[in-house]
Amino acid sequence: MTDRRRNIRPDVDDSQAWIRLQDVTYSYGQEGGAGKKRQSLSHVSLNLYPGHTYVVTGPNGCGKSTLFRLMAGLSFPTSGSYFFRGEQITERQMNDRDFSRKFFRKLGFLFQDSETQLFCKTVREEVAFGLFQLGLEKSEVERRTQQYLEMLEISDLAERAPFHLSGGEKKRTALAAVLAMQPQVLILDEPEAGLDEDGENWVIKFLDGLRSEERLIVIATHSRLLAEEVHGEEIRMTKEHTIADRKTREGLQV
Ligand SMILES: Nc1ncnc2c1ncn2[C@@H]1O[C@H](COP(=O)(O)OP(=O)(O)OP(=O)(O)O)[C@@H](O)[C@H]1O
Ligand SMILES: [Mg+2]
Repeated sequence: MTDRRRNIRPDVDDSQAWIRLQDVTYSYGQEGGAGKKRQSLSHVSLNLYPGHTYVVTGPNGCGKSTLFRLMAGLSFPTSGSYFFRGEQITERQMNDRDFSRKFFRKLGFLFQDSETQLFCKTVREEVAFGLFQLGLEKSEVERRTQQYLEMLEISDLAERAPFHLSGGEKKRTALAAVLAMQPQVLILDEPEAGLDEDGENWVIKFLDGLRSEERLIVIATHSRLLAEEVHGEEIRMTKEHTIADRKTREGLQV
């Protein structure tokens, strides 16, 4: 497929892809272990380019979250390869603290389950944590924390413990923490799930407004509204844990 596209569009260069998966398969469980090996991604190849928003859709269990954890460097292909901005992402690379710190400065990941994401004592600390990791001055951390607490309408929860919040409040906190870091690559696993109507509309508007040449956004969702309103390119996953044929705006397969 790559060669075909190159032939048709010599200006489209694979090396320009910020996220590149080559024939990636992922299985939970160990071969020969007690549990049966379960394939959750099957021969997925994908090139994602900056300046685009991609919306990943598909039925429960098709592999969206598995794909997203892989793109976020939290798990690794059983076979095949993953390249992030030209560098192969492997367990060995991610165990290198300098490498992973740099990686997470560029890439922000929202877990499908916000509880997995939240670990600080207060909502304010939760949002500030990543900003300190970026090495920002205290005054800038405080300013940006307040800004995102207000944007997500959770200022009144700032001193509360994330663990005791409602599902939607947890999601807003996790979103504030990820978005405040303003990463170039955003990988968001069901950002609207659990939010009320106003919350969902805010997320849609925010993500639609975020598009830029210097940014890549990938969203998994079951919301038709979100899928349509963020004006992204849809990537449909199938029950067979692979990606359905898709067309770019130019009508070419990627
Ligand atoms: N920790 C795990 N151990 C074993 N199998 C798992 C694990 N997590 C997910 N799976 C399996 O992998 C497959 C893909 O799951 P995944 O969570 O990626 O689906 P999904 O597309 O995100 O679904 P949903 O729309 O429900 O969020 C499913 O068959 C699921 O049962
Ligand atoms: Mg999922």
